Amino acid sequence: MMKHLTLLALLTASTMFAQVNKGENIAVPYIAYDIKMGKGFAEVQANCLTCHSFGYMINQGPQSREHWHKKTMKMITHFKAPINEKDIKIITNYFFEHYGNGKLN
Ligand code: HEC
Repeated sequence: MMKHLTLLALLTASTMFAQVNKGENIAVPYIAYDIKMGKGFAEVQANCLTCHSFGYMINQGPQSREHWHKKTMKMITHFKAPINEKDIKIITNYFFEHYGNGKLN
């Protein structure tokens, strides 16, 4: 399980190249993000990693519970992410527990 997840993160990181001019690639600096395992990670993996990498979600540092809830809702309203009510709560709790700043809002 762990091995598989590490591989997934590496694959995601290795595809971060932007085509600028014909044949010219710019490499985005590689930053390793620590993916915390725990309750709710399965839901995050199923609902959030379909469109972007893990690091993309947590690169703004620790945030409030409201922030994580709002981000999750934004993905649903703006980008049509199909996430059900139960998973919204589980995902919000996961991010607040592992990447939270301790403040509710
Ligand atoms: C349907 C595709 C899709 C899914 C699924 C998705 N996102 Fe996103 N997400 C995006 C796009 C597109 C952006 C880039 C928005 C931008 O550039 O303004 C983004 C950006 C973000 C950002 C960066 C900050 C911001 O406001 O743009 C965070 C944090 C984020 N997503 C969290 C999540 C979380 C948490 C989940 C799972 C609950 C999730 N995303 C699922 C499409 C998705």
